[in-house]
Amino acid sequence: MRYGYFDTENDEYVIDRVDLPTSWTNYLGVEDMCAVLNHTAGGYLFYKSPEYHRITRFRGNAIPMDRPGDYVYIRDREDGDYFSISWQPVGKPLDEARYICRHGLSTTTYECDYRGIHAGQKMSIPIGDNVLVWDVTVRNDSKRVRELDVFSYAEFSFHHVPIDNQNFQMSLYCAGSEYKDGAIIYDLYYEEEGYQYFTANFEPDGYECLRDNFIGTYNTETNPKAVIEGRCRGQGQKGGNHCAVLQKSLSLLPGQSARLIYFLGEGALKQSQDIREKYKDPAALDRAYQELKNFWKNKQDRFKVSSGEAGIDTMINTWTLYQSEINVMFSRFASFIEVGGRTGLGYRDTAQDAMTVIATNPEGCKKRIVELLRALTTKGYGIHLFEPRWFMPEDEKEKKKKPFKSPTVIPEPEGASKVHGLSDACADDALWLVPSITEYVRETGCYDFLDEKYGYADGGEGTVYEHMKRIVSFSLEQVGDHGICKGLRADWNDCLNLGGGESTLVSFLLYRALVCLSELALFLGRDDDRMSFDKELKRLKSFFNDTLWDGKWFIRGITHNGRKIGSAENEEGKIHLESNAWAVLSGAADEDKARTTLDSVYEYLYTPYGILLNAPAYTKPDDDIGFITRVYPGLKENSSIFSHPNPWVWSAECTMGNGDRAFEYYRSLCPYYQNDIIETRHAEPYSYCQFISGKDHSAYGEAHHPFMTGSGGWSYFAVTHYMLGIRPGFDELIVDPCIPARWDGFNVKRYFRGDVYDITVENPAHVQKGVKEIYLDDTMVDKINIAGDGRQHSVRVVMG
Ligand code: GLC
Repeated sequence: MRYGYFDTENDEYVIDRVDLPTSWTNYLGVEDMCAVLNHTAGGYLFYKSPEYHRITRFRGNAIPMDRPGDYVYIRDREDGDYFSISWQPVGKPLDEARYICRHGLSTTTYECDYRGIHAGQKMSIPIGDNVLVWDVTVRNDSKRVRELDVFSYAEFSFHHVPIDNQNFQMSLYCAGSEYKDGAIIYDLYYEEEGYQYFTANFEPDGYECLRDNFIGTYNTETNPKAVIEGRCRGQGQKGGNHCAVLQKSLSLLPGQSARLIYFLGEGALKQSQDIREKYKDPAALDRAYQELKNFWKNKQDRFKVSSGEAGIDTMINTWTLYQSEINVMFSRFASFIEVGGRTGLGYRDTAQDAMTVIATNPEGCKKRIVELLRALTTKGYGIHLFEPRWFMPEDEKEKKKKPFKSPTVIPEPEGASKVHGLSDACADDALWLVPSITEYVRETGCYDFLDEKYGYADGGEGTVYEHMKRIVSFSLEQVGDHGICKGLRADWNDCLNLGGGESTLVSFLLYRALVCLSELALFLGRDDDRMSFDKELKRLKSFFNDTLWDGKWFIRGITHNGRKIGSAENEEGKIHLESNAWAVLSGAADEDKARTTLDSVYEYLYTPYGILLNAPAYTKPDDDIGFITRVYPGLKENSSIFSHPNPWVWSAECTMGNGDRAFEYYRSLCPYYQNDIIETRHAEPYSYCQFISGKDHSAYGEAHHPFMTGSGGWSYFAVTHYMLGIRPGFDELIVDPCIPARWDGFNVKRYFRGDVYDITVENPAHVQKGVKEIYLDDTMVDKINIAGDGRQHSVRVVMG
């Protein structure tokens, strides 16, 4: 069953059946302000931090779902009938009204046709402005004059998510609202600069600042009292709950339409006036749409594939790129799942995100890499969850600002520090950063970056290269009783209890980090370093292949009681994905073991919806193995199809030349191919979800937690770098595809260090991997050297 379709021409996903089984989301904004919106205009808005600077309120995990939101009600003065432009909150029967939602790149549009009125509401956050714009059009498609009242509605939040949800004897008295010169000004009085405004491009005929006046104590957003009555009371107040309602009366002749533009922004009266002035002429807004379009087009033009396989082209050129970029911009905590209850950056997630879209977003990825470098301790481990500002050299303005302090006393232990000790360090966190930095310098050619100096979280400073060396030294020291890397607080899998135990995954991640450093040292001519990295690599390779091999695959780890995890000798959780993917992807596994282990993954973990994280599922709580055994079978880390590590396996298959299998895996997980089975998938088909219920769960195949997951980035990276095989070398562009044998080839236009390469890959012999000939501008070459002339060059690669 399908609920919509991909409109590739306009880079939109069009939901033409809006009674979806769950919310389908979009993220608006590409700078500091972000709106998370669903297909019925439910969601929330924040500025910089979803936890500390929440502008509109959201009631997470509530019924009806995803309320409140950014609503526009239209009421017919003749008979008092009303509807909302988005299907919810009024929710007219779908056989009486026609609704559409178009999620696009940084815009979402709601449309409704109801009783001769066509209405549209386009949402966006223009580049350079901290304002959410609602661009509303109301058109009279009927044959008589229509007398209408249009009401906007958004509910303000008390900014800090904790304050918004508790201790109402304080919170209810911290915020005030007033109406002035066409704008509603909201003030969080506890804060120094706690203002927001709501205004429009017209003079309103009524307004309301008080939520309960508008909705009514016994009503909901579905049937607000003021809309039923057709009039607002027009009040603001110090204290209480506040909202943004502007009322506009329209009289529309047949065929006539009105464009009402609303602005929900950061700042007070002055900012509201400035924004009104700026967008006085709606053409200014049309230009802002074009700027947003160009913003994304510039990125899309940096890597554009045409393979003839719609599930690759549509996802890589648009949706997976978009998902990966949004993760780099806003990280993980702004969603309907996290509800902004946390803020900041997770070390491991961010370190991986920052590697995936360097070609399309070098500045954004560098910013993240620098934040991670500053959050590294001198010992070489990262601060697991941190806010970048903790470790930033303060700027003068920030220093002068009084920090917000809640009047509610929440005692903090004396000496509490942002820098946690070893007992809270996750063994994998910083190891992800080494390949990301290597990727960054290869992509950009900015090798000077390696000698730039940055501070450590616990004091002192060092070059980027020194930071990298500390990371591997730390992991080389942190070994357990069996000589393999400790898991510390956790490795990538948060639910395996490897504290005190040892982790095969971390061991292979260390191997990969050492490979990166060794290659870097070779390129930079740092011979002593290279020799010492290579010595370790040699030692670890033979040691890992002996110690970690289980017969048909690699074990996942060893608990602090010395029990193996992920071994044939276990009854449950016999085989795990992560260690086997990385055994191959890191280059550590001997060739025969690499092949056997990948075959085992295929045999024991592959399902039609993707690869299980482990199997068989754990069914009995066992705290030696960890929390994973207290998660229901088939959910989350316990034998679900956890999306994030799936592309690790696709990539590993590509290193072994198995293009058919890599694509089969890609197809199984890729949401694009599940557009027609939404009765099973439930979630949106344009973004990867954190996990899909595994075969031991009654909801097998149902996808959960869209958008904010590392699976977008990793999928993008695996397809571009391993399947299409186009990746940056130190001083060359590498084209080394691994594709299904049936493919005749493909084309990629790729920007690289100032030039554009128009790459045509031909596969006349129908192989999966192997490059026979390379032509650069029609001349046969061994490798693609960087032209560096800022022009377009043609590359022809013949596989065979
Ligand atoms: C979540 C976390 C991520 C972790 C994964 C597996 O996605 O954000 O850090 O690696 O779960 O436990």
